[in-house]
Amino acid sequence: MYKLGLHAVTKTWQNQCALENISLTIEPNSSVALVGSNGSGKTTTIRLLGALLQTSSGQVHINDRPVDQMSRIEIRRYRQHCGFIEQSTHIIPQLSVYDNVLIGKLALLPWYHAAGHALWQTKDADVIHALNEVGLTNSIWKASDSLSGGQKQRVAIARNIIRKPKVILADEPMSNLDPQTTEQIISILDKQTKKYRATLIITTHHIQRIIKYIDRVIGLKQGSIAFDKPASVITKSDLDTLYANEHPA
Ligand SMILES: Nc1ncnc2c1ncn2[C@@H]1O[C@H](COP(=O)(O)OP(=O)(O)O)[C@@H](O)[C@H]1O
Ligand SMILES: [Mg+2]
Repeated sequence: MYKLGLHAVTKTWQNQCALENISLTIEPNSSVALVGSNGSGKTTTIRLLGALLQTSSGQVHINDRPVDQMSRIEIRRYRQHCGFIEQSTHIIPQLSVYDNVLIGKLALLPWYHAAGHALWQTKDADVIHALNEVGLTNSIWKASDSLSGGQKQRVAIARNIIRKPKVILADEPMSNLDPQTTEQIISILDKQTKKYRATLIITTHHIQRIIKYIDRVIGLKQGSIAFDKPASVITKSDLDTLYANEHPA
């Protein structure tokens, strides 16, 4: 389990300030939504929490330790415990559903184990299990390019849950999906989060569609925290303030 923290974090790109003096703590085993208009800093926050980006100033803490004091091996181990799910699924269209999920497991093995596994193993029990969890066992040998958007996202989730993640970082995973498919995806993410006693951090433009699965909502506006509240007390006016004078996506 991981406790995550941002301590007075600022991230700038050239002259552009993506995040300004952000501090927050995310307890293990909780579900947090990051909301805000385009450019408010959601992806930057997710990538910092995944130890994929360096801060310009301030520190990212993982279990109360600054990332910049962790060794490369420790950071790599942490990243292996993270599931990264994005709007773009990074599915390889020429490969079957099975192979796309297997990739998630092979990435954790040394190359000689991975090569042996890919060549000789016909059906990996972990892949079958992960596909069962996302309801895709009937599509196992299908070519991935024949899948719908929601099915592709489920393959991407299976590829991550095969690694039994402790932190699930989901950056707009449902932004191209209809409300019904959104419900399907968030309920899968919620079930897997609880199963692995993981932390779910998710960004979305449709918080109202997923709020019943979320403990806490953090509103970002122009790189600063506009509000940070339990999901149960979020009001429409909280959300309206995020988009005031801006164009929601
Ligand atoms: N790699 C980058 N290079 C330059 N600017 C970036 C980069 N990534 C993000 N930004 C800028 O940082 C700000 C916050 O971006 P981002 O975190 O992607 O916001 P969001 O995910 O809420 O849309 C934006 O102004 C964006 O243009
Ligand atoms: Mg983004």
